[in-house]
Amino acid sequence: MSKVTHISHSAAETEALGEAWGRSAQAGWVLGLSGDLGAGKTQLVRGLARGLGVTARVSSPTFALANEYGGGRLLLAHIDLYRLETEHQIIGAGLEEYLRPAGVTVIEWAERWGSLLSSPRAVGAFRRVQIEVLEKGSRRIVYEDSGA
Ligand SMILES: Nc1ncnc2c1ncn2[C@@H]1O[C@H](COP(=O)(O)OP(=O)(O)O)[C@@H](O)[C@H]1O
Ligand SMILES: [Mg+2]
Repeated sequence: MSKVTHISHSAAETEALGEAWGRSAQAGWVLGLSGDLGAGKTQLVRGLARGLGVTARVSSPTFALANEYGGGRLLLAHIDLYRLETEHQIIGAGLEEYLRPAGVTVIEWAERWGSLLSSPRAVGAFRRVQIEVLEKGSRRIVYEDSGA
């Protein structure tokens, strides 16, 4: 499948993009986000949560590796791999179960999970998202779908 590029000019616009994705999300969907610190990964997840109808405030799972948000149309699992260096640690932390979610899983720093990106067969429907900082308020968001 081909890549789609979206230029966002504000945090609110990035959140709105995530919100649209959340509204159309299907059960079993996995999203992998990459981008520097402050690129807007969590901002996108906030929108995703809103689009799913989750009312809880989304923050980065700083101490936990995963946060789960109920109360929306689908359960949202939010994983942040920032603190994990190797795939060995990721598997050891028991995160593999989130690749076959009952609801939706979104993973920040997805590139740390090498095999997730190199063999998307590991998951069903998968969206790889890369966020690049262009300038202060602008971001290039590129995404590509694979799988079911
Ligand atoms: N176009 C934009 N999209 C997303 N965030 C933006 C944008 N412009 C500015 N920002 C700011 O960048 C920061 C992104 O933070 P965050 O989403 O926590 O990044 P990450 O999770 O990638 O480390 C926020 O302070 C947000 O307000
Ligand atoms: Mg973040």
